[in-house]
Amino acid sequence: MTDTALRPAVPGVTAGVGPVRLPSPGTRRALGHAVQHLVRTGATAGSVVAQPRHQLPPDLVCRLTELIGPPADWRGYRVLRGLFDGLGEPGPTPVHWSEPTGPADLPHELALALVGRLLGEVFGWANQQDGRLVHNILPSPGQETRQVGASSTLALAWHTEDGFHPERADFLLLACLRNPGLTGTRLACVRDIELSDEDAALLGRPGLVIDPDDSYEPDPREGDHAPGIRTVWGAPDARCVRYDPAYTRLLARDPDFAQAYARLQPAFDRHAVEIGLAPGDLLLVDNDVMVHGRSAFPPRYDGSDRWLKRVLVRSTGTGRPARPPQEELEHGFGQHRVRPARGTIPPLPTTDH
Ligand SMILES: [Fe+2]
Repeated sequence: MTDTALRPAVPGVTAGVGPVRLPSPGTRRALGHAVQHLVRTGATAGSVVAQPRHQLPPDLVCRLTELIGPPADWRGYRVLRGLFDGLGEPGPTPVHWSEPTGPADLPHELALALVGRLLGEVFGWANQQDGRLVHNILPSPGQETRQVGASSTLALAWHTEDGFHPERADFLLLACLRNPGLTGTRLACVRDIELSDEDAALLGRPGLVIDPDDSYEPDPREGDHAPGIRTVWGAPDARCVRYDPAYTRLLARDPDFAQAYARLQPAFDRHAVEIGLAPGDLLLVDNDVMVHGRSAFPPRYDGSDRWLKRVLVRSTGTGRPARPPQEELEHGFGQHRVRPARGTIPPLPTTDH
């Protein structure tokens, strides 16, 4: 759990340095109270993200908004240590993502969805995790060495989340429910790496295709007539990236391009940041600025495994360069986003915090 010695002595909105923020006890209590109210009203992740943000008490929205901060200030990511501390024990870790959400992990789903909603539109994929808006990230038998979130004994390689799709998330949010070995989530920023002008120009060409990863149900259109995509774009201090070598096909035999592409992985390795998320922590990642991965770990399959919940967010408030306009020509391999259905949630009562 969070190091309470580092938390502010005087209740405040934020504390911490750089990408790591320490929510005040009052903020965590108020969020827990709001989430428990939503649980009692029968809310689901879908119903809360379909609502405008003022479904939360205005002062809590202010506190959360200040904690999240403008994404342009994240340095590519932000950690909110212990924000979800007050949501209770989530129950045993399932052995497969498809197990239904129960009363123990529902508060965590709602809290994550609510924070995601503050950043933009929370969405899922029709062919991934059955179209759910909140994904379970946990190790599953048979998946140990695959390049998917359910793997374990093999490190998850650097990647952009859903890099194959032009409508991929702007922001990726990961809430930690359990992480017994403090297995590291790895992050690297494309703006930190040494990228020569020549390599940047090469990688700015549409020289490759990224296929959907193995967590998607295949679509008949897969692989057909996929246009080439650009790996980097933007000025050096505002550079963005789209990268997933485990699922990448180079389109032409161009040794210069291939060598420039091959230099990316060691460059990301040199600038890697590894974060051992603890229960209650929330990690926010800018999906155009950072690539991410995960260290290997031994699965247990006894209910005590690492367990994260994930939401994907599309936003107009990214504060970074627009994606290449050519992306609009991509078919996305027939994969479609799922948006929340409209629902009705009773307003929250006034609360103390
Ligand atoms: Fe990922």
